[in-house]
Amino acid sequence: MRIFLKVWRQAGPRSAGEFVDYTAENVSPDMSFLEMLDVVNEGLIVGGQDPIAFDSDCREGICGSCGFLVNGVAHGPEPGTTVCQLHMRKFTDNERLVLEPWRARAFPLVKDLVVDRSAFDRIIQAGGYTSINVGGAQDGNAILIPKPLIEQAMDSAACIGCGACVAACKNASAALFTSAKISQLSLLPQGQVERKQRAIDMVDRHDAEGFGSCSNEGECEAVCPKEIPITNIARMNREYLKAVLL
Ligand code: SF4
Ligand code: FES
Repeated sequence: MRIFLKVWRQAGPRSAGEFVDYTAENVSPDMSFLEMLDVVNEGLIVGGQDPIAFDSDCREGICGSCGFLVNGVAHGPEPGTTVCQLHMRKFTDNERLVLEPWRARAFPLVKDLVVDRSAFDRIIQAGGYTSINVGGAQDGNAILIPKPLIEQAMDSAACIGCGACVAACKNASAALFTSAKISQLSLLPQGQVERKQRAIDMVDRHDAEGFGSCSNEGECEAVCPKEIPITNIARMNREYLKAVLL
């Protein structure tokens, strides 16, 4: 396959950016999207040019490092799939693809397709810890949790912190991410200690980082590679209201 790429190139946060055209030749349909970019970068390096910067780590869809817009869609056209797990067979020969970084005030650009997502880390840090004197490790079987609850908690815990939800939202809201993190603890018995303060602190940190408010567009749910449902956002709002009012 041959793929025509238009890639956002920006040397740094204060530099001017622009789209640059590249042609990826001899692309195997079995390559992942990032492997295709690796090949493009090898050509750039051999030619003495600066390779395209993009984030990746596990390349198995579990770490949340990768992510950029492919033709305006976060992580590309395959639902429930990170861009590292997206394969070139999803595209056609001679297709034209536009690659852009996540665009959000709270995710400042680092270089090319790489943005700084440390705001997510600070939201997690705001959640703090649970002040329980656990003693020795408790037998997991001794903490009985109803199956529907544990399923919901595990579904929420599947969030990998990739930031696609923010990139897809017209308000650049991180409500889906924050609500998934609040939900996974508020649903479990272990998370009841400091449940109220955690909800208040994480939501307040979300706002302080410059993320926008949720207006129920549903774009976040549509692009989330872990298919986190927006019912988490409703739960977060309930948790927050109960925490400040009761
Ligand atoms: S909620 Fe989904 S899109 Fe948002 S950070 Fe988590 S995994 Fe990524
Ligand atoms: S590189 Fe880890 S999720 Fe894509």
